[in-house]
Amino acid sequence: MAKIIDGKKISVQIKEELKEKVAKLKRDGKEITLAVIQVGNDEASTVYVGNKKKACEYIGIHSLSYELSEETTQDKLLELIEELNQKEEVHGILVQLPLPKHIDENAVIHAISPKKDVDGFHPQNVGALSIGESGFVSCTPAGIIQLLKRSGIEIAGKHCVVIGRSNIVGKPMAMLLLRENGTVTVCHSKTKDLAKLTKQADILVAAIGKPKFITKEYIKEGAVVIDVGIHRMENKKLCGDVDYDDVIDKVSAITPVPGGVGPMTIAMLMYNCVESISL
Ligand code: GUN
Repeated sequence: MAKIIDGKKISVQIKEELKEKVAKLKRDGKEITLAVIQVGNDEASTVYVGNKKKACEYIGIHSLSYELSEETTQDKLLELIEELNQKEEVHGILVQLPLPKHIDENAVIHAISPKKDVDGFHPQNVGALSIGESGFVSCTPAGIIQLLKRSGIEIAGKHCVVIGRSNIVGKPMAMLLLRENGTVTVCHSKTKDLAKLTKQADILVAAIGKPKFITKEYIKEGAVVIDVGIHRMENKKLCGDVDYDDVIDKVSAITPVPGGVGPMTIAMLMYNCVESISL
């Protein structure tokens, strides 16, 4: 029987731990503040930002909300970021992506002070991760490491295959698995004979962006499967990059969609916010 890795439950555990830490900080007279910036009103972004603000409230983190119009210029946004960089009472800055097309995302990521970059997207934090120094780590891959560790799944010595090479998930995921002494293979859209590689995986992380792409033909008997995808099907139900029903009898552990990786991203954002007050 496959173990279902309950991301919802683990994310609640983490949030409870953080809530206690925040309460202690408050008793010492310290309050954490996160500035959340949204440009435009992309529907999905509004939901994500709302969930992030709710999580802040639950944990006891003060959140400042900046809802800017779709027409906001890049210069205006950079000006606001600089203002927040300078404000001592602001510990974390989060600019929700994607941004409108006329704004260069890279310029925005570079503008956020690495010390306030709770998303872990700034090149300084990305570099720190790759050379094993401390810094903020991208929330989704950091959450996946927590899912594995808190489910008692050993990473050291395992062959970990990551499908996807994005800056937000695939690349930092590979670095984190390497840091945990996994043997890591990164696959992507140009990889030849994908199934040959994924069938070698003890731990398979699927961040492909295609619904139900991973079927049992891609999986080794007894593998641990982590599904980063989230897609809305025609029947309105959610599914991941993995065909859950097809692989369930072959895996030793799997994350469901919803309720697997998703809730961990916000929990780890909260973790980064709590860390930000110590920098
Ligand atoms: N858009 C989708 N995921 C993320 C995330 O983790 N952080 C930010 N800032 N924007 C996102």
